[in-house]
Amino acid sequence: AGAALVDTFGRVHRDLRISLTDRCSLRCTYCMPEQGNEWLARDSILSTDEIVRVARVAADAGITTFRLTGGEPLLRTDIVEVVRRLAEIEGPDGPVAIAMTTNGIRLPGLLPGLVEAGLQRLNISIDTLDRERFRELTRRDRLDDVLEGIAAAAASGLRPLKLNAVAMRGVNDTEMIGLVEFALAHGAQLRFIEQMPLDAGHTWDRTSMVTRDEILEDLATRWDLTPVPGRGGAPAELFLLDGGPQAVGVIASVTAPFCGDCDRMRLTADGQLRNCLFSTSEYDLLPVLRGDGADADVDRVLRACVRGKLPGHAINDPSFLQPARGMNAIGG
Ligand code: GTP
Ligand code: 5AD
Ligand code: SF4
Repeated sequence: AGAALVDTFGRVHRDLRISLTDRCSLRCTYCMPEQGNEWLARDSILSTDEIVRVARVAADAGITTFRLTGGEPLLRTDIVEVVRRLAEIEGPDGPVAIAMTTNGIRLPGLLPGLVEAGLQRLNISIDTLDRERFRELTRRDRLDDVLEGIAAAAASGLRPLKLNAVAMRGVNDTEMIGLVEFALAHGAQLRFIEQMPLDAGHTWDRTSMVTRDEILEDLATRWDLTPVPGRGGAPAELFLLDGGPQAVGVIASVTAPFCGDCDRMRLTADGQLRNCLFSTSEYDLLPVLRGDGADADVDRVLRACVRGKLPGHAINDPSFLQPARGMNAIGG
């Protein structure tokens, strides 16, 4: 096994987020424009063999978790095969963990196969429980499909099951307590996310973002909140509800960034490595994967990517520039 992936600030990288497609069955306003994007060219999308090769080299360098994202990862037609092949990978310290972040829509049909193939953890996005609001926010009338997906996940026994809600002023900020109660009823943990400037239309503004403090203030009207220590590199701060054991999470990427403990890198569906959601440079694996590159060359690109990592994002700097690609192309 190679040396660990340590950046110039001493952060050890253990988590690789793999975007499997930029396509999605929804069009959430904070992510994609109504008409969709110009999709990535089909021949630039990594094959399953190519993904597995990168993942194997990454595992050798100390990556222990692969999180599959998108776009919507379940739109990839060979998704069960991707999970199966990734789950077979062994790192120096044993088998890797496979997790997925999904909009839930295709879960009821796919979940048994995914679990059998080795999927271990699921995070599902659900921003509102109101059908009309869901349709406005995602521009698709598919709340019922998402709810069925969440029910299937709850029944599957995969734990921990996490539900993600991006908090938006004037959109779902009156529903926060209801969303937590919905999660608890499904044996899941709700995590509220501060909206980040990653929408393809570059329309983000600070005033429509609901902050961590506002979220906590609202939840505190219903529950007694106790911070859970020992967060490590996790993006969510957890709070016990009325003493626990159940908890709610807040991912405060904007007002309380966790970059100092970041252990993540990203692989886009078109073979670009990124050291941050907000990085302005990408490290191209395609020439290595499609030329006559050896695994050692893949490893070199991984290390170059980690070496180039900045201490954190610059969302709060006046000079901040949004990445050129939207969230759906970078991978959540
Ligand atoms: P867990 O390992 O289960 O905690 O998953 P996760 O929270 O890392 O993954 P998920 O895909 O559910 O992402 C939840 C939110 O956290 C999304 O808005 C992500 O964009 C955000 N997120 C995940 N990783 C990072 C990161 O490295 N930096 C920032 N700023 N946000 C991140
Ligand atoms: N800001 C914060 N979170 C976002 N997500 C998508 N776009 C944004 C954004 N602009 C979330 C999705 C999903 C996860 C992968 O990222 O809701 O839960
Ligand atoms: Fe699709 Fe996820 Fe973007 Fe929503 S946030 S449009 S589910 S990729």
